[in-house]
Amino acid sequence: MAQLCLSLTENTLAENLKLLRKNRPYIDCCELRIDYLHEEEYPSLYTFPEQVDLPVVCTLRRYEEGGAFKGSARRYSEILLSALRGPFQFVDLDAKVSVPEIEAQCTGKNITIIRSRHFVLELPANGADVLEKLPRGAREIPKLACQLQGTEDLFRLARIGRNSRHTKQIIIGMGAFGVPTRLLPVWCNSMLSYATAGPVPAAPGHLDPRKMTETFRFKQITKNTDVFGIIGNPVLHSRSPYIHNPGFARQKLDAVYIPFPTDDPQFFLRYAGEFNVKGLSVTVPHKESAARIVELHDEAVRDIGSCNTLTWDDKEGEWKAYNTDYSGFMAPLKAFCREHGKRISKGTVIGAGGAARAVVYALVKAKVEVCIINRTSDKAQRLAEQYGIFWSGMNEEGLRLAQDHRDLIVQTTSAGMKGSDCDDPWPDYRFSGDELVYEIVYTPVYTPFLIRAQKAGCSVLTGDMMLQKQGEEQFFLFTGKQLNIEEEYSKEELL
Ligand code: ATR
Repeated sequence: MAQLCLSLTENTLAENLKLLRKNRPYIDCCELRIDYLHEEEYPSLYTFPEQVDLPVVCTLRRYEEGGAFKGSARRYSEILLSALRGPFQFVDLDAKVSVPEIEAQCTGKNITIIRSRHFVLELPANGADVLEKLPRGAREIPKLACQLQGTEDLFRLARIGRNSRHTKQIIIGMGAFGVPTRLLPVWCNSMLSYATAGPVPAAPGHLDPRKMTETFRFKQITKNTDVFGIIGNPVLHSRSPYIHNPGFARQKLDAVYIPFPTDDPQFFLRYAGEFNVKGLSVTVPHKESAARIVELHDEAVRDIGSCNTLTWDDKEGEWKAYNTDYSGFMAPLKAFCREHGKRISKGTVIGAGGAARAVVYALVKAKVEVCIINRTSDKAQRLAEQYGIFWSGMNEEGLRLAQDHRDLIVQTTSAGMKGSDCDDPWPDYRFSGDELVYEIVYTPVYTPFLIRAQKAGCSVLTGDMMLQKQGEEQFFLFTGKQLNIEEEYSKEELL
């Protein structure tokens, strides 16, 4: 099982000790990043390991290798020699610098050398060869860290790790595409993964140790663990890990769910077995392409033309595609109508993108008379013509149509989402107060559009309800087990 190492990136030893104590329950060792420390701390470096009840790696990362140290090779050597008077268990030595005095000191004091190369721009074509030649003695641990540019790089680096002849090694993919190497080091044959908890991530893609341990189940992962995840780009801020991982823990399943930032879904799906992937959520921008790539799909995927869930059939050796967005959307609506005795005959869908397609499909199937209103009227027209329903741009005609289809108003655009530069997709629309307004955005849960609707007296349904319901269905497709998020999960767990 791989170990978790906390990179200490504060400016003083005292601050680093504080950081370490706070994160002590989640880590196995720590790395003192000298290059982030104030120079006044240098004379005391050797005292640091004595104050810590964990193995400490001593690292002075040079600027060229992604660190902050800009001094000469001689200064590099002097600082490390002085630090290594203390009982460090490891020292990370830059393979590009020749440091015979340090090597001699390490032999005398039984300090293990991690011989490292950091490629801060890319994974080089000769990565396997570089890794092979890194150690200069049988006791040295080679470390290869490379910035990954995409999905192909992720698989290439993991294969380099798995095919290497070293029994102990550290393999790290930096940047968003490398995150799976940090969360699943076992699939790169890497003995260590790094985390940061301070204000500065020690390398691009570093995660918080508590999150790695508690959410991403780092300590439980072995080669037997079933891997699930979400493919999309970007995807690191997805809330789905907070639905599935606690679900696996509650059901006592040996499984984990992680983000897989992906720029090439076809490549990812072909080789996902190399990370023992058994099921995937699919998000923007791959929902449509995944539906095209995967041949086996349910009726909703075929009709909507997009999928958000894939399961791997081990026996048949193929992927199956589902759309739980559509059913996740309907569940809270049905529950509301049951509870309040409401009947929806006519509804308006704002937006005509991927999310709108699933919503329109669901409503038409439920025999609701739907109209589509979109900023770009051509897009509204194209979607509407598939179903033979009304459509309009956001103009007088649109206002008239929406007034006439106002039992339900569904907001499916990204306007109002955290980070979006627009709060309200359709400020011209005035709520009468008798609409049921359903928002698809869930960050924030109450968007300006929804708040405006509430103020006018409308009933509302929030995007987190749909997220939870589609998550429950997805969990069932992944595991065959039921989750009840509303009853079983605390608010803090979910958001
Ligand atoms: P998704 O798959 O999440 O639905 P999408 O396919 O890119 O994303 O569709 C985004 C939808 O939100 C579109 O209908 C878009 O309108 P346009 O077709 O005119 O681009 C709509 N949208 C995005 N930002 C918007 C804004 N600020 N105001 C109104 N509509 C907006």
